[in-house]
Amino acid sequence: MTPYVADPVYLNGQFKPLAEAGISPLDRGFLYGDGVYEVIPVYSRRAFRIDEHLKRLQATLDGIQLANPLSASDWKDVVLRLIDEAPWEDQSIYLQVTRGADDKRDHAFPPPSVAPTAFAFSSPLVTTPADIRAKGVSAITVPDLRWSRCDLKVISLLANVLARQQAVEQGCAEALLIRDGFMKEGAASNIFIVKDGVLCAPPKTHLMLPGITYDVILELAKFHGQPVKIAEIEETELRAADEVWMTSSTKEILAITTLDGHPVGTGKPGPLAGQMWQWYQDFKNTVMRKG
Ligand code: PDD
Repeated sequence: MTPYVADPVYLNGQFKPLAEAGISPLDRGFLYGDGVYEVIPVYSRRAFRIDEHLKRLQATLDGIQLANPLSASDWKDVVLRLIDEAPWEDQSIYLQVTRGADDKRDHAFPPPSVAPTAFAFSSPLVTTPADIRAKGVSAITVPDLRWSRCDLKVISLLANVLARQQAVEQGCAEALLIRDGFMKEGAASNIFIVKDGVLCAPPKTHLMLPGITYDVILELAKFHGQPVKIAEIEETELRAADEVWMTSSTKEILAITTLDGHPVGTGKPGPLAGQMWQWYQDFKNTVMRKG
């Protein structure tokens, strides 16, 4: 157990302390980044939208032609046990499946006898402190150097890692990825903008991860009668936005108030960011905490 990873973790059918969980250095996750993952938020010990997360896991596995080692109901049992044994009420469950370890290194798939590696653990869900939320965070824009299947939640995240590191080195919370003049998403979040009272988000394409939080925000907007526009966001529109938000299962909704050193809108979190955050909290406390 560490402050960030609860014991036990799950590895290939067994629950064991993190310190005893080992995999082969020939694992294709290690050699090739050949695997997939999910991050599921847990509120009051209830996994939020677990069916949707497991559906996205399956879609990603299908996308890389890897059989799911567990059924949805077996994954749920694993997640329930991890939640039960972790010391925190609000958690973040990490699931990962790789194409396993062959006895040699070859790019092509290993024979069917090689079993996938399945790994899962719980961490505490750390939400953004109120003072940071009240000020908003800074972000930079960087070229989107990822491959063309960004809709798949794969563990090969090097382009995201390098983008995020550039942000960190400039004292920023996120890097916004620009491809062919359009803003696709953040290195580890989806991005919304607000212009003249309309909430705008890029459509789900192969070039963006379909966020579970993204869906929740659009549902909340619809429920509350908030005008929404789903369309590609040009870099120029991003820079002229009244508000810019980053969203994810762990960050929830966080206003970006400085972009590439320039203020976004007034330079303070906008009214719709505050409103959506409140709707999200209300939803969290009434629905999410029930699973
Ligand atoms: N990241 N886009 C990217 C590239 C992401 O990595 C994430 C989440 C999202 C938001 O997806 P969701 O709302 O389902 O969390 C969008 C997770 C949290 C991570 O990599 O840790």
